[in-house]
Amino acid sequence: MIMIYPFVILCSLLFGVTASPLAPTETPGLSVPIRKFVNVTSGHNLVNTGRSRAQSFRDRAASKRTSSTKRQEVPVVNEIITYIAEITVGADNQTFHLLVDTGSSNTWIGANSSYAYVPSSSSVWTDDIVIVDYGSGYFFGYEYYDTVALSNDLVIKNQSIGVADFQQGFTSMDGILGIGPVALTDGTILGDLAPVTTVPTVSDNLFTEGIISAEVVGIAFVPTTGAADEPEGELIFGDVEGSSKYTGQITYTQKETDYWGITQSISYSGIEIMASAVGVVDTGTTLNYMPTDAFNAYINSTGGIFDEATGLYEITEEQYDALDDLVFTIGGTDFPLTSNAQIWPRTLNANIGGEEGKLYLAAVATDPVEDLNFINGYVFLERYFSVFDNTNSRVGFAATAYTNATTN
Ligand SMILES: *[C@@H]1O[C@H](CO)[C@@H](O)[C@H](O)[C@H]1NC(C)=O
Ligand SMILES: *[C@@H]1O[C@H](CO)[C@@H](O)[C@H](O)[C@H]1NC(C)=O
Ligand SMILES: *[C@@H]1O[C@H](CO)[C@@H](O)[C@H](O)[C@H]1NC(C)=O
Ligand SMILES: *[C@@H]1O[C@H](CO)[C@@H](O)[C@H](O)[C@H]1NC(C)=O
Ligand SMILES: *[C@@H]1O[C@H](CO)[C@@H](O)[C@H](O)[C@H]1NC(C)=O
Ligand SMILES: *[C@@H]1O[C@H](CO)[C@@H](O)[C@H](O)[C@H]1NC(C)=O
Repeated sequence: MIMIYPFVILCSLLFGVTASPLAPTETPGLSVPIRKFVNVTSGHNLVNTGRSRAQSFRDRAASKRTSSTKRQEVPVVNEIITYIAEITVGADNQTFHLLVDTGSSNTWIGANSSYAYVPSSSSVWTDDIVIVDYGSGYFFGYEYYDTVALSNDLVIKNQSIGVADFQQGFTSMDGILGIGPVALTDGTILGDLAPVTTVPTVSDNLFTEGIISAEVVGIAFVPTTGAADEPEGELIFGDVEGSSKYTGQITYTQKETDYWGITQSISYSGIEIMASAVGVVDTGTTLNYMPTDAFNAYINSTGGIFDEATGLYEITEEQYDALDDLVFTIGGTDFPLTSNAQIWPRTLNANIGGEEGKLYLAAVATDPVEDLNFINGYVFLERYFSVFDNTNSRVGFAATAYTNATTN
């Protein structure tokens, strides 16, 4: 990253601006590689896991979250594809592998009880207890302040971090890197001394410690290729303008709700199937969720047939060839999903109980409630670069080299 600064300065000298249209090939923001792990174990219950996560969002949107809600025995996120950032904690650089989550905002470690955090000279025990309920799972533990490094350039001296004493629903990661808005941390701390309300997120601290100049996170996910070594994704903290991870312009839209919520409409075959409505963008949700009416209209047009084994709708080769773009219109810009982007990655059919060679649509119906009419999951985010901008309270999207890729 150090290499890019002379180039940026040179651009400034030549053009008088840093955001030159002659974008550098590297980004001026600070990047964190995110490894994509594909779990080859078969029989994952993708749809149930997603529904359970969607339910927790709905409960919060409808403000009727109660601990009496029946807890379901499903993982918090699907265990098939996960995006993991490697971070270090403490003066002795203990390594943890955290799930990147825009749908929650507490950062915590210790999900693997055989791999414990050991307080070091930089660790400060706060006397506070932290509890985060994710709907289908939760963790409970102790809150520390410690040094947290997301990369060599992104070192937070004083990050509030949860250390799990007990968790349910997290099996293949050490914890969560919560990059949702800080409001989602409200009420997660049982403060012993001062009445603690929210917990500054990693993005908040990178900004307040002067490491990034704007509280912005860009996310570049990559479609699953089925190759043994999946390409890496990337998180970019700070200035995302000019990143090589997207093409064209970023379209921004105002952030809605406590989540990374946006307003969008959806159309298929040129017909609007969901009028402009509010929903969320979520890295922890796999599929695209749309309101039942919109979903039915979409499925009717495609001719998809419900498949019991996967919980998804199956289409034939002929129906696949006849698919039109499924278009998400956000901030006045169309973000089409090509036919290839609308189907579940064929190489992962067996993982979800499907059959080799079959075609399943990667969309699910959801009962809309106010402020939660849809969830754009990572089947959308793998096709479009996304930007979560807390400084300007907005969310952005841009096309990428993968937008039209035919990897599925
Ligand atoms: C921890 O990592 C930093 C670089 O991020 C390095 O400067 C420091 O020496 C490392 N400390 C130990 C104990 O390995
Ligand atoms: C660390 O951050 C917390 C807030 O998260 C703050 O209360 C505390 O005073 C900070 N400690 C230092 C040493 O700056
Ligand atoms: C948990 O940690 C142990 C000890 O480091 C390791 O062997 C094991 O693979 C870890 N489990 C998971 C699910 O990461
Ligand atoms: C793969 O998924 C299964 C659940 O089907 C889970 O038990 C297992 O821990 C996962 N493996 C890894 C390495 O994440
Ligand atoms: C889809 O088709 C079925 C029967 O063909 C019909 O009952 C249903 O109303 C249609 N749904 C929509 C949203 O068009
Ligand atoms: C994807 O393909 C469409 C149709 O050919 C084209 O209009 C669009 O510019 C392409 N998008 C990208 C990001 O390549």
